[in-house]
Amino acid sequence: EPVIVPDAPGALPAVIAHRGDSATAPENTLAAFESAIRNGADWVETDVQTTRDGAPVLMHDNTVDRTTAGTGDISTLTAAQIAQLEAGSWFSAAAYPGQKVPALTDVLDQVRGRASKLLLEVKGPETQAEVDRVVAAIKSRGQTSEVLLQSFDVNVLRHARAADPELRLGLLRSALDADPVAVSKELGLAAYNPSWDGLKADPGVVEELHEAGVAVMVWTVDDTASWERLRELGVDGIITNKAGQLAGWQDRY
Ligand code: G3P
Ligand code: CA
Repeated sequence: EPVIVPDAPGALPAVIAHRGDSATAPENTLAAFESAIRNGADWVETDVQTTRDGAPVLMHDNTVDRTTAGTGDISTLTAAQIAQLEAGSWFSAAAYPGQKVPALTDVLDQVRGRASKLLLEVKGPETQAEVDRVVAAIKSRGQTSEVLLQSFDVNVLRHARAADPELRLGLLRSALDADPVAVSKELGLAAYNPSWDGLKADPGVVEELHEAGVAVMVWTVDDTASWERLRELGVDGIITNKAGQLAGWQDRY
């Protein structure tokens, strides 16, 4: 079981594959998620955006330009138009033919019953109706316990809480709040997820959050020296582009 109960004695940080196994496969594709799962990731991290017709699809950017063969803002394209786009050849023309932009439901189907859970970052959906559609996809499949929904936007977390009191929530932060424990309690967070640079400003908050029953997942960390420091700090998860390497590195402990 991936670690989400903070401070489990002796637990190593969970391996969280940022946009899938994004160092070896095109980010946020089913190929990248599959590689992460097979390489020992405890969690697959991905980003959700909303199409013109309200469908949740998986992409980091607001536009399809960087990671597909198409162009345009996701909010101006329909789900059917996005489903046509080729999403692998920008990364490597030879190794990943036929990759598409996944729908949220695709990755939910992919992780169902597998060893990896889903760390779902809500980026595009903002309104209650848009967040409702994301949460409904999770809930209607009975996968609430397989997901932790995170966002930089506290209003998104409030909408998600309104949609499902059971869903675990995480707050993303570039810099620490003045009082991370108070913010966590106010929002009912399962996880408080700072950047590594942000956490360095006050690493003692890991212990404070653990005492409050809140887990800490740190982004986005790809070097072994930092992995070691984060292990010593007792964080609950490390979000990395090098999930396979982190899983292998953890084997020494
Ligand atoms: O999971 C945290 C991390 O993904 C936040 O940054 O820009 O990669 O979505 P970004
Ligand atoms: Ca993200």
